[in-house]
Amino acid sequence: MTSKLLERRHRLLGQHAPLFYDQPLEIVAGEGLWLTAADGTRYLDVYNNVPSCGHCHPRIVDALAGQAAKLNVHTRYLHQTILNYVERLTGLFDDTLNMAMLTCSGSEANELALRIARHTTGNQGVIVTDYAYHGNTEAVAELGTGFMPEADGCQRVVGVPAPDAYRLPPGIAAEDAEDFYVRQVELAVETLQARGVGVAGILVCPAFANEGLLNPPNGFLDRAVSVVRRAGGLYIADEVQGGFGRTGHHWWSHQRFAAVPDLVTLGKPMGNGHPLAGVVVPRHLGEPFCEAAMYFNTFAGNPVSCAVGMAVLDVIEDEALMANAVATGDYVKAGLDALAEVSASIGDVRQKGLFFAVELVTDQERKTPDAALTRRVVNQLKANGVLISSIGKHNNVLKMRPPLPFAREHADILLDALGGALKAPKQNAVGGG
Ligand SMILES: Cc1ncc(COP(=O)(O)O)c(C=O)c1O
Repeated sequence: MTSKLLERRHRLLGQHAPLFYDQPLEIVAGEGLWLTAADGTRYLDVYNNVPSCGHCHPRIVDALAGQAAKLNVHTRYLHQTILNYVERLTGLFDDTLNMAMLTCSGSEANELALRIARHTTGNQGVIVTDYAYHGNTEAVAELGTGFMPEADGCQRVVGVPAPDAYRLPPGIAAEDAEDFYVRQVELAVETLQARGVGVAGILVCPAFANEGLLNPPNGFLDRAVSVVRRAGGLYIADEVQGGFGRTGHHWWSHQRFAAVPDLVTLGKPMGNGHPLAGVVVPRHLGEPFCEAAMYFNTFAGNPVSCAVGMAVLDVIEDEALMANAVATGDYVKAGLDALAEVSASIGDVRQKGLFFAVELVTDQERKTPDAALTRRVVNQLKANGVLISSIGKHNNVLKMRPPLPFAREHADILLDALGGALKAPKQNAVGGG
C-alpha cells in the first residue's frame, strides 16, 4: 500500500517533494501528542510544533467549525472577531508593537516584513545568519544563504556565520566569540554599504532554530541589532518557530534578549495547523507602508482564522502550556544531560522550553559531526514509535519539538527510546532519512 501511495505521490507531486523517512509514514489521525498511522501503529509526536496545542484540540476544532458554520469572508468588512483577535495578539508584545497585518504563511509574513523594512529605510540590504530558513517566496529565498539558488550572487543579502557558542570558528577562543560574531555583522554592514544598497535590516530567528537551536554568545544579538540600527536598518525577529510560548519563559523567543524588534513575523503554531501567520509592527511603520502600498490578502485573517487564533491563545493560557514548557522542558533537559554523561556520541545538549537539540559527534574533543548516527537514531526512534527529526548545517543535530502539552509520561517514553537508540549496534538500526 505504501509503495502504491509513494508511486502516486511521485507522479502527482514530483519526486523531490520532501518526505520524512526512507519508509514514509501514512498518518491518518491525530489526538493530543499521538499520531496514528494507516496500519494502526501509534506514534508519540516529538517533532511537530505547528499543532502546538496538541493535534485536533477539541476547543480549537469547535472554534473553527463554529465560525465556519456562521460566516467566512475576507477582511474588507468590519468584523469584531478579527479586531478582538488582533487586540489580544498585539497585547502580548511590547507596547511599541501595536498593529498587525495578517498573512497565510510564515514566508508571506517575512516577505511583507522585508517590504516594510525596505520601504521604511529606503535601503535594500538585509543581513541574515547562514543556514537559516525563512521561507519560500522569491525575496525570502534570497535569504537562504546556505542552500537557496536565489541567494547565489544576490547583491542585497549578506549572510553572517550563525552565532554558535559550541562550535566556534577555527582559531577563535570562547571569550572572543561574541566580538568575532558581532564583527561579522559590522563587516556585513560595510559590504552592503560598499555595494550601494544600504542596510534595510537584520532578519533573524532569535531561537536560531533552523541553524541548530544554537546558543549564541550572550551579548551577540543585542550588539548586532545596535550595529544594524546605527547603519539605519531595522531588527526583524522571525518568531515563526520560536513564538507562541514554545520557549516557555516568554511568549516570544526575542524576549530573552534586551533588544525590542522593529518587526516581528509569526506563523506555524499561530493557528495550530490552520494557515494563520502575520507581521506585528509599530503603527508608525505600518501605516505609511500601507498608505503607499495597499496590503490585502484574500484569505489571511478571515473570521475563521481569527476564531482559531483566539482559541489557540485561550488554550495556551488556560492549560498553562508555557509553564508546562518550562517544567517538562527542564525535565527532558535533565534526562538528556544524563544520557550525555554516559554516551560518547553526544557532543552538546541545547534546550529552550520544549525545543531540544542534541548534537551527535564521532568524538567529543574535536566535535566531528556524526550525520550517519543522527540518521540512524531518527529512524530507530521511528521504528520504536517516537517521531523526531534532524537539523543543522552538518545534519548531525537531533531536533525535538513536541506539541506543548508534552508531559512527563511522554518525556519518559522519549528518553527511554533515545537511550536505547544511542546504545543500539549499527546493524540493528533502520537506515534512511
Ligand atoms: C524560522 C522560519 N521562518 C519562516 C518559515 C516559513 O514559514 P512557512 O512554511 O509557513 O511559509 C519557516 C518554515 O519552516 C521557519 O522555520
